[in-house]
Amino acid sequence: MKGTYALAVVSERSPEMLVVAKNASPLVLGLGERANFVASDVPAILAHTRDVIFLEEGDFAVITKKGIELTDRAGKKLDRKVRRIDWTPTMAEKNGHKHFMHKEIHEQARALTDTIRGRASVEEGDVYLDGCHLDAKTVAGLNKIHVVACGTSWHASLTGKLMIETLARIPVEVDLASEFRYREPLVDARTLCIAVSQSGETADTLGSFREAKSRGARGLAICNVVGSAIAREADDVLYTHAGPEIGVASTKAFTTQLAAFFLLAVRLGRLRGTLDVPTARKHLEHLRELPSLVEKTLKHEEEIKQAAYKFSAARDLLFLGRGPQYPVALEGALKLKEISYIHAEGYAAGEMKHGPIALIDENMPVMVLAPRDSASEAGVNYEKILGNIQEVKARGGRVIAIHSDDDKMVPKIVECAIAIPQTNALLLPIISVIPTQLFSYHVADHRGTDVDQPRNLAKSVTVE
Ligand code: AGP
Repeated sequence: MKGTYALAVVSERSPEMLVVAKNASPLVLGLGERANFVASDVPAILAHTRDVIFLEEGDFAVITKKGIELTDRAGKKLDRKVRRIDWTPTMAEKNGHKHFMHKEIHEQARALTDTIRGRASVEEGDVYLDGCHLDAKTVAGLNKIHVVACGTSWHASLTGKLMIETLARIPVEVDLASEFRYREPLVDARTLCIAVSQSGETADTLGSFREAKSRGARGLAICNVVGSAIAREADDVLYTHAGPEIGVASTKAFTTQLAAFFLLAVRLGRLRGTLDVPTARKHLEHLRELPSLVEKTLKHEEEIKQAAYKFSAARDLLFLGRGPQYPVALEGALKLKEISYIHAEGYAAGEMKHGPIALIDENMPVMVLAPRDSASEAGVNYEKILGNIQEVKARGGRVIAIHSDDDKMVPKIVECAIAIPQTNALLLPIISVIPTQLFSYHVADHRGTDVDQPRNLAKSVTVE
């Protein structure tokens, strides 16, 4: 059989037996006490067992309630590792939330705490990345980093680029996985290829990762699912510990990917000598404060919900951001479009005068990411984004702004203002994305769309 498949076959002549086969599509076996299970993903079997086997490409298995026999294509017996998943069945339930997405938005403080825990040493001004064997010699041999990802993970990668280039001063290219793999990429043994994927099963990301490794690159995976295909094929794995993300719209995966990128950026900076201990300590202190700032931001949900209701009838919406807030504008637009079906676009605010400003009128609301650049100064991005707000208003546009909580000026010049706490400019996207997540969620919920399983979409895109 050719192509990608994940099969589970039962014959009426042998109803007690399942035969499964897998190639490039995910398939997981669950080992229970009185039964064994097959599923495409772990949450489906969590209520029955947490002991699982992730099948590899070309694996076969014959499963009965007594046991599992694993073989490869040639019929040779295989001994695959049994992994104990540290998620509980409750984590895969809604726990009183109306939707999984709402629950996962509110889990972000805990998810960030779990992703950071045991990795950031503020005292030593350094980071310890379990699963990553990047030492000074390996890092010294690198002349660039190439990141491949799709969707929300690609947006996270754009922010990751800023973090790594700022702290470790090594060139980072970020590519859509679906583009990278088919264009003879310039990758070799001096490249670190980072594949970013919540599911660890996205076909285009997996294909790009394999392409980069076939050209000699070292492969580092940032994944949320232990033992997933991309994680299994990586030389180094940096797991996010967000817990199962069930809602199709990715939320806590995005923020924990940013935290993982920041940890990696600090580590690379220390290994390359571009980040001294005092500066690293300061950055890690900001990272350690994040979960409490996330909780503080979530407390504004009611105001965000009211703003969402005001704009839930919109047919189009523009998201604008600059610098580290530009990927947040892209991510906010993706969230809104994929769950509310409103046409939304994210744009670099500086691009407005090069075309998009023609779209502006009273029917094109604009959400502007307008926090100050940092706690200590307004910054060029802030100054310029104020100009963008004025140019939108001058053309009759309606503006919703996400702004620093001590900024008294922006709330006076926009229709809706959402305050967020201030932190390190590179970490601020983890905070500013939260109002965009809640805004999109409440718009979609108000419009009555299927928030957790939007039309035409799947949680894990295992097809190309
Ligand atoms: C984001 O909300 C979407 N679910 C989608 O764009 C997703 O980010 C993309 O398919 C990549 O998935 P991955 O992170 O599992 O690779």
